[in-house]
Amino acid sequence: MEKIQIAEILRSGKVGTEITVKGWVRTRRGSKNVNFIALNDGSTINNLQVVAEIEIFGEEIFKSINTGAAIGATGILVASSGSGQSVELKAEKIELIGLSDPDKYPIQPKRHTLEFLREMAHLRPRTATFSAVFRIRHAMIFAIHSFFNDRGFFNVHTPIITSSDAEGAGEMFRVTTHPATNPPLNEEGKVDFTQDFFGKAANLTVSGQLEGELFAMALSKIYTFGPTFRAENSNTSRHLAEFWMIEPEVAFCDLTDNMDLAEDFLKYLINYALEHCMDDLMFLSSRLTEEEKVKPADQRSMELIEKLRFVADNDFIRLTYTEAIEILKNSKPNKKGKFQYPITGYGTDLQSEHERFLVEQEFKKPVILTNYPKEIKAFYMRLDDNGQTVAAMDVLFPQIGEIIGGSQREERLEMLERRMDEMHIPKEDLDWYLDTRRYGGCPHAGFGLGFERLMLFVTGMGNIRDVIPFARTPKNCEF
Ligand code: 4AD
Ligand code: MG
Repeated sequence: MEKIQIAEILRSGKVGTEITVKGWVRTRRGSKNVNFIALNDGSTINNLQVVAEIEIFGEEIFKSINTGAAIGATGILVASSGSGQSVELKAEKIELIGLSDPDKYPIQPKRHTLEFLREMAHLRPRTATFSAVFRIRHAMIFAIHSFFNDRGFFNVHTPIITSSDAEGAGEMFRVTTHPATNPPLNEEGKVDFTQDFFGKAANLTVSGQLEGELFAMALSKIYTFGPTFRAENSNTSRHLAEFWMIEPEVAFCDLTDNMDLAEDFLKYLINYALEHCMDDLMFLSSRLTEEEKVKPADQRSMELIEKLRFVADNDFIRLTYTEAIEILKNSKPNKKGKFQYPITGYGTDLQSEHERFLVEQEFKKPVILTNYPKEIKAFYMRLDDNGQTVAAMDVLFPQIGEIIGGSQREERLEMLERRMDEMHIPKEDLDWYLDTRRYGGCPHAGFGLGFERLMLFVTGMGNIRDVIPFARTPKNCEF
């Protein structure tokens, strides 16, 4: 008999039909005549209750049906008299597939801390919390492709190994086949990359943007969705060394169009989660509410589903960096010295404490900040007419801070070359990039959404390590 996913059974299973399910035992409790097995196959947050009578199976088999074991069960789907489920499986046959020693299995049927489960990243998808997170992660990936496909964008695979530094920030992981000891040296005594695998220095990409721009200059609307790597030594709850980024790039598009696209995109994804992931969201929401009970009432955040609805239903605030600095300079926390990095005036880079103040205290809504000073932004951003600021945009979210970073690009060859000189970006290395400005250049814009930052927001999880299957952070590369 063909097995059916538990999600399918709970959605549309017909009472009276014979079915087979396979999954992992969450719990088992026994009484005199019968055993109740909560079975989960990962297709849904909900378990299927398998009812197994001792009269049919004897006592012995149940010693092997422990938390974590893989079993199959065949029987008739019946209406359930127990609370919490509408149907259950009355077992006629049970197959022991993979045993699990109940004394050693690390994932006991009790509440484990997220820190403990992080060490158990190979087994944590079997918990309710992480299975919910990773089902939502899948739904978001699917929704991202739908959003762009429906709007005439083409997906482009930009290279993962590259010889350029798109952000110019020098936070790259080197890719080499040189031996770790005594690599070949050149006449200057430096490592000789002409003898390396690619014949030049290569690294893992920090962003697919520059290559994405080349394709936008041909296909008009494109997006990339790939892994990106940053060797920044930031051990925070919002930084990973390996994360996934979605980068749309659009030709004949300015900063306002770009902001509209970003806002539509985020709202679409949140609405998609509300429409398609409600069981998992409800579980995560009650988990979060439980966790927040220990906090004083005024420090608790909005309930998860309420928060998602609020963001999906309200316009984002749009304001310039210069306006934001004025607000921050005159804010209570700044005047009372509460910011770790005090705001003195125009030119300071914003820290996550400032971003969160604007979003959570001042406006109580997502904020799109634009037109940052050119000194604190990347070389490719379009210089504003004032010669001081660039057409940058950062989308700031509650609890997260920056979720999206983007800009209108500098399409004027001379201006771009001047910025590259000022910022010591070698023009020879990016000659191919400059070609798009030489031949048929046009105004264009794009942005990057940090996929795990989106996941933090949608799931309400507090640490970015808990929304990616296997986190890579400084001093941590397990699995
Ligand atoms: O602001 P960033 O550095 O922008 C770019 O890389 C541009 N090339 C994007 C573009 O215009 N096409 O990064 C974009 C987003 C950030 O807003 C943040 O959400 C996420 O990527 N991000 C990280 N997420 C997790 N861990 C890190 N270390 C991250 N660094 C950036
Ligand atoms: Mg940024």
